Parts: sequence; C-alpha cells; structure tokens
Amino acid sequence: MDISEAINQRKSIRAFRPDPVPLETLKGILKESTRAPSWANTQPWEFAVATGKPLEEIRAGFLEKSMTSPSFDVPRPPEFPDRYAARIRVLDKQNRLVTTKDWESRRVQNFKHYGAPAVIYLLTCREFYYQTKGLNVWALYDSGAVAENIMLLATKCGLGTVVQAQAVAYPDVLRKALEIPESKIFFLGIAIGYPDWDNPINQFRTEREALDNITTWHGF
Ligand SMILES: Cc1cc2nc3c(=O)[nH]c(=O)nc-3n(C[C@H](O)[C@H](O)[C@H](O)COP(=O)(O)O)c2cc1C
Repeated sequence: MDISEAINQRKSIRAFRPDPVPLETLKGILKESTRAPSWANTQPWEFAVATGKPLEEIRAGFLEKSMTSPSFDVPRPPEFPDRYAARIRVLDKQNRLVTTKDWESRRVQNFKHYGAPAVIYLLTCREFYYQTKGLNVWALYDSGAVAENIMLLATKCGLGTVVQAQAVAYPDVLRKALEIPESKIFFLGIAIGYPDWDNPINQFRTEREALDNITTWHGF
C-alpha cells in the first residue's frame, strides 16, 4: 500500500471485531511510527498499550465515572469559534444519519473504545509538558506526528483505528490500571483492531474543506 492509499483509506473506525491484534504487529507499528519528526529529536512520546484485563478494568472505571466531569491531563479546548463549531455541527448531523444507535449509547461506546481489542495510550513526561514558563505545546506537535504514523501503519496492516480524547478523560483510572506514575501525563488514546465493516457506522466518511478555502500561494 502506498502512502496516498493509506492516507485516503484511514478514517475513524467506530465498530471493531473482537479478534485480538497480534503483539508482534503492534510492536512493528509502534517501532516504525517513531520515525516521526520531533523538535530537536526530543522524541517526547511514550506508549502504554492495553488489552484484556487491564483494558476491562479501564472500561469499568470510565463507565463508573462517566457522569462526572472529565479531568484530562491536557484539557479540552474551552471555546470553538464559529467556523469550527459549524464543522462540528455538520459532523454531528452526518453522524446521526449513519448510526442507528441513540446518542447515549454512542457516548457509552466511546468509553468502551467501540469494542476495540486494544488501546495505545500516548504519554509524555509531565515536567517536559508543564514547564515553569508555560506549556511545551511542541510536544503535542511531535505526538500528533507519531499518532498519525501509527494510524497509517495500522491501515497498511488491515487494521482500523480511532484516536480518542475521551480515552484519556479520567487519567486517575488509567494510572491505577496501567501502573503509570504521576510523572507521566496522557495525551491521547488510539483504539486499534480489525474493523467490523458490516456496521454502517464504518461506511461513514467525513468531509474536508476545499483546498482553495484554506490555502494561499505566494511567489508562484
Ligand atoms: C485530538 C482528537 C481527539 C479525538 N477524540 C475523539 C473521541 O474521543 N471519540 C471519537 O469517537 N473520535 C474522536 N476523534 C476523531 C475525530 O472525530 C475524527 O478524526 C474526525 O471527525 C475526522 O474523521 P476521520 O478520522 O474519520 O477522518 C478525535 C480526533 C482527534 C484528532
């Protein structure tokens, strides 16, 4: 599979088959993903990968907390200016057309990682992100690059992924189940597994803004 095919095939998968992903496949994906660029090659990413019992513990813990306010290590943006809010509204509307499930069960599915057999958590060191003079947001650029590599490599292996902020909404639950110390923070979770292509939710493809609306060209 060439790079364009992988980019175009990747999309968020929200229904997985229960089949486990072989450990060697996950190792291969993670190893290759770390060829991503990072600021001055600092490579701020670390991974914790969960399946089986620890993942069940996480799901139970998240469901128990699901009605309480999330306590993300990296908080959700508090504001969405009109242009971005409009895109979210379009997404919500399209989502409602493709899912037969109600909104509440969709929310629960999000906490259950849509049935994925494994989740890759992206972490970084707290002291590298929370610096004395402000946040090191550059660590987020780097982690975004490694996350996209993971998702493209997974696509190449016939796997599906969905990157989830919701997967790190309750870091205390994750720290306990995965024995991760306070010195590490959770950026994101990537649910990974074999897509259930029979579920209509996986037929859904999001739109993108036209290139002309987001690009200016200079000196051509
Ligand atoms: C930082 C980030 C957080 C996200 N969190 C969630 C999430 O919690 N649950 C979910 O179902 N999708 C989540 N998504 C997936 C986006 O909704 C999805 O990428 C977007 O709608 C574009 O669709 P596509 O991935 O199919 O191209 C997240 C994506 C990003 C980049």
